[in-house]
Amino acid sequence: MAYQTLLYDVRNRVGTVIVNRPEKLNALNALAKEELRDCIAAVRNDGNVAALIITGAGEKSFVAGTDIAELTELNAVTGKQFAERGQAVLNLLEDLGKPVIAAINGYALGGGCELALACHIRLASDRARFGQPEVNLGIIPGYGGTQRLARLIGMGRALEMILTGIQVDAQEAYRIGLVNRVYPAAELMPRAQAMAEGIASMGQRAIAFALTAVGAVSETTLKEGLAHEAELFGSCCATEDFREGTTAFLQKRKPVFRDR
Ligand code: COA
Repeated sequence: MAYQTLLYDVRNRVGTVIVNRPEKLNALNALAKEELRDCIAAVRNDGNVAALIITGAGEKSFVAGTDIAELTELNAVTGKQFAERGQAVLNLLEDLGKPVIAAINGYALGGGCELALACHIRLASDRARFGQPEVNLGIIPGYGGTQRLARLIGMGRALEMILTGIQVDAQEAYRIGLVNRVYPAAELMPRAQAMAEGIASMGQRAIAFALTAVGAVSETTLKEGLAHEAELFGSCCATEDFREGTTAFLQKRKPVFRDR
């Protein structure tokens, strides 16, 4: 797949998307969002890709937000549509049905932080910096930041970030649960690739069911969530991968999953 604002590559069943506008710190312009949407759709339909990594080009930035140059003419109507279109792309990513790892190599500000929040796992380089600086521009986060950030790190911390626009470094992001792990910059991509390949080696039916079950957490009561979990557990037990996984364990060999 050839894009103007993204680089895309697949290795060992792991796709990697690099947002590639380093001269603008990988800010997401309209084309980048469109290409991201197309790329996500292609990954969904590609049976050879079991997991996805998202990162930014260059050493300085993951994604420094939406492209501010494209905000200036928005009004109440087009502004709402702008937010909805951005949210739709990130919803597609969150609902991909395959694990998405954000490899955050630098600035993850505004829409960049929101992009990372829509991924399932966040790994950061020790140079990463996070923030929702929209209030500096007279706006609020519009690509899910008010919702996903509060759900991930709690309302108090999310409000502090959103109301003050402060930047949080990688260690602080780790401390408050905004990222799963922090690595030295040179280790970030190898670690993300290794984690993604590890997940890609599992039975993909179970991986997809796990994403569905955990993904429902913020929309269900505990009781409904447990019922949903039991249903999905039952669905796992109807798969060939479940027979293979349990049999292989008892035979003391490595399972060979066929994603069926
Ligand atoms: N939208 C459009 N362009 C952006 C951008 C964004 N979100 N973030 C950075 N850029 C551009 C800069 O305008 C500059 O372009 P230029 O060289 O043509 O002038 C280039 O990227 C490099 O950025 P610069 O500001 O010179 O780098 P810096 O190291 O001094 O500062 C940041 C880095 C990230 C602190 C700063 O660029 C910044 O605050 N960016 C905006 C972040 C933001 O508010 N995001 C939320 C948007 S809703």
